Amino acid sequence: MPDLPPELPTELIEALSDARRVVALTGSGISAESGVPTFREAQTGLWARYDPQELATPEAFARDPELVWKWYAWRRGLVGRALPNAGHTALADVERSVPEFCLVTQNVDGLHQQAGSDHVVELHGNLLRSRCPVENVTVEPDGADHLPPLCPNCGSPLRPDVVWFGEALPATELEAASEAARSCDLFLSVGTSGLVYPAASLPYEALESRATVVEINPDRTPLSPHADFSLRGRAEEILPRLVGATFG
Ligand code: APR
Repeated sequence: MPDLPPELPTELIEALSDARRVVALTGSGISAESGVPTFREAQTGLWARYDPQELATPEAFARDPELVWKWYAWRRGLVGRALPNAGHTALADVERSVPEFCLVTQNVDGLHQQAGSDHVVELHGNLLRSRCPVENVTVEPDGADHLPPLCPNCGSPLRPDVVWFGEALPATELEAASEAARSCDLFLSVGTSGLVYPAASLPYEALESRATVVEINPDRTPLSPHADFSLRGRAEEILPRLVGATFG
């Protein structure tokens, strides 16, 4: 499928309007306009010299838990100041406008929920939560002055409740996402480079099940040639127009 200009094709509006089951897969691009840097963008300031792929691993945490915790604390600060943008809001509008909707996100920033989305499957966890790696439960840090903070139950150093490189995704969330992708009529892939599996396989599962697959991204991705509609542009611009044209 060739790149489409940002005008919205009538066939796309009809497909969304007719769809009974819609799935959206989002990546960090949807939160870029909210000020949350995408994972593969250069880090700023103090963190410019670190490669995120070398901080977001169990090995990095074992080697230097304080460094990894501080990096996540910095990201949590950014997320804490961020507000959902028009892209997040438009997806919450889609949820209210179609009979069945499932939002699958690779983001750990909680901005979809803040924008009003209810049915959110978080494939990579949530930065705002902490987890005890020994008991494998989410807990509130003990509030003491220790970095990383300690588990109030067993005293182990806590980790952010996110999925790191080399770790398995939560099985229940992955199964829910896969089931939704295989049974939807229309699948939106928004703001993701499509490089990280297994999330990147979801649009292909939808294609195999004959869903209409729509991509929204300013850049081409490996999915672009396979999508039924590949819209070159930013989520915060295209999604509100698509929602307005379809349900407005
Ligand atoms: N609107 C839509 N897309 C955008 C926007 C925007 N305003 N700005 C950037 N993008 C696109 C980029 O073109 C890129 O394709 O968002 C994508 C961001 O890609 P990545 O940084 O690779 O983020 P993502 O796909 O979410 O990464 C997946 O990899 O590093 C891990 O766990 C991390 O969840 C993350 C996963």
